Parts: sequence; C-alpha cells; structure tokens
Amino acid sequence: MKRIGILTGGGDAPGLNAVIRAAVKTAINEYDCKVFGIKDGYDGFLAKDGIIPLGLGDVRGILPRGGTILGAANRGNPYARKVIRNGKEITIDVSDEIVKGIKKLKLEALLVLGGDGTLHIAHELFLKGVPVIGVPKTIDNDIGGTEITFGFDTALNIATEALDRLHTTAESHHRVMVIELMGRDAGFIALHAGVSGGADVILIPEIPFNYESIIAKVRARAAAGSKFSLIAVSEGAKTQDGTQIFSRKGDEIYVPRLGGIGQAVAEYMEKQGFESRVTVLGHVQRGGTPTAFDRWLATRYGAAAVRLAAKGGYDRMVALRCGTITDIPLEEATATPKRIKLTDDSVITARNLGISFGD
Ligand code: F6P
Repeated sequence: MKRIGILTGGGDAPGLNAVIRAAVKTAINEYDCKVFGIKDGYDGFLAKDGIIPLGLGDVRGILPRGGTILGAANRGNPYARKVIRNGKEITIDVSDEIVKGIKKLKLEALLVLGGDGTLHIAHELFLKGVPVIGVPKTIDNDIGGTEITFGFDTALNIATEALDRLHTTAESHHRVMVIELMGRDAGFIALHAGVSGGADVILIPEIPFNYESIIAKVRARAAAGSKFSLIAVSEGAKTQDGTQIFSRKGDEIYVPRLGGIGQAVAEYMEKQGFESRVTVLGHVQRGGTPTAFDRWLATRYGAAAVRLAAKGGYDRMVALRCGTITDIPLEEATATPKRIKLTDDSVITARNLGISFGD
C-alpha cells in the first residue's frame, strides 16, 4: 500500500482531527505510505486545490483540536450536486468525476470519515470501483453496527454540563428549564445527558410524547415541594400524533432542519402556569476540543482503518463491539440506523428513577 486518501464528510464532530492524525502516523510509520487529504468531503476531488499531501508535520498538534483540518461539507453528495447551468439551478450526478479523480490520484484506499449519509455514498462509490474504508463519525451516535461513534462522548459531556448549570438557576427561580439538544431522529444525547444531568422529563424521538404527561410530572414535583423542573428535549422529539417541529424545509440537497420543539414545550408550560425558559444548545455540542474518551476512540479508529486498508478490507467500516475494535460491511452499518429501544436498560433505568418520557 503506497498511497491513501482521507476525507471528512457531513457535519463535523469532535475527534475528526484525532482520526486524521492517527491514520497519517500509522500509514507513514508502519507502511511508509503517502497520504493525501481531500478537502471539504467529496467536493475536494472536484476543486482545483482540493487535494493536499499530509505528512507527519501536518498533523502535529491537532489531537485536541475540534472541527476538521480538511473541512467538511454536509451538502457534498456527488450523486446530487447543485450547479447553475444557463442561469438555472439544477442537480447533477458527478460521481463519475469523483471516481476519475480517485483513479488519477492512484489511491489504493480512501478513508471516509462520516455519518450515515457519507458512508452510504462511500458504499455506492465502492460499487463503482473505489477502494473505500469507513470510519463512523457523529455526535448523534446513530450509526448501526457500532456501539459508539466518536464525537458522541464530547457532545454528551457538553450537554450534561449545560444541564448542571440550568439546574442551579432553575432551582433558584422556581422555573421550568427546557433544554433542546441535537440528535436528529436518535435520542442518545438527550437520554444520556438527561440522566447524567438529573433531568425530570426526557423527550426523545423514539418515545412519542403528549403534553399532558409532561405537565403531570411537573405538577407532581411541585406538589411534592420541588418547584422547579428540568426538561431535556431531543430536537427530533415527536408528539404521539407523529408531529415533529422543523425550522427549515428540506430539498434534494438539504435534509429538513429540525428545531423549535424546546420552544413549543416551554410555551406549553407557561400556558399551564409554570414560568419557563428555553435553551437551545445547538452547535456548541459539536464544536471544540474532544474529550479524552473521544480522542482515544478516534485514535483507535484511525489506526485500525489504515490496518484494514493494508489488508484490502474495502467496503467495510471500523466499529467498536464489546469494547474491541473490529470491522463490519459498510452496508450493514448504513442499512439500519441505531435507535434507542424501549427495552434498553438506559430507558428502564431512567424510568426506575422516576424520569418521565412524556408517554
Ligand atoms: O448529525 C449531527 C447533527 O449535529 C444533528 O444532530 C443535527 O440535526 C445536524 O447535525 C445539524 O447539522 P447542520 O446544522 O450542520 O446542518
């Protein structure tokens, strides 16, 4: 193995740079291999200066750095790229150009660090002959086949700290504090941070809620002498009739943008006579330095991805199972996204503690 490429696709997540660093070091130290960084996801293959050599000096000092030194693009789908032709915006398939770019670079492996969308595209490119290796990235922790994705632990810690901070001010002012957290259609951040940060109500997409159940919990707490409550809401939480709240519609390029459920819950609480405030934690959960756990996991994933490439394990993704790094087919990772199940011990534990899911 003499030449490999690395790209980071989709939204960023803390730990991307740690993966890049580990992959570059392993490729150079163990295989004397040349490494190329592709800028801004798959778009780098189409841009004039989209490909840069990555040496040991380029990855020095990036272990604790958030974001990605390669840049990311979460509308960079080569199968649906928006371009202007004759003054009109159209969507075209540029996947063959990407394949050409990869062949021209003579890459023997392309490490793709991404979430379900980016990894699904990687599998499609493999079917066109590209030697891809996947690395599971997302703060949402929703990729199938792996126990955990890097970025999740950092987001969880940030969300938990926010809940701790809201707790003290909620208690002082006898208020309901609602915090809206990321996660798209998976409630891992809200559930884990909600339990770790002492939330009284946790609303997640996997357990549809009704407003009456939330207010019943808040009233019960008030009656028992706790005049404040903390509500952790996942951005994708839905009511029992299936309603989710979006701040922007989707199209062929953008997935619909979730947002606004926290405000809706806070407004309902106010109408019921409970003074409420809402905090939308947003991209704070995605930015900044990764936790030690995420650095450790990302480093293991990065080194393992290069070892997998050296074995020719294409169309596969590194994964964590029973605490050990292994690898699985990319198709398995993207076929069924990971979701919280009602029978998970995390849900049962939360219920044991008296936490309401609003169901
Ligand atoms: O997938 C990660 C994630 O942070 C989701 O939790 C969130 O819905 C989404 O990305 C937001 O992405 P962006 O604002 O970059 O489009």
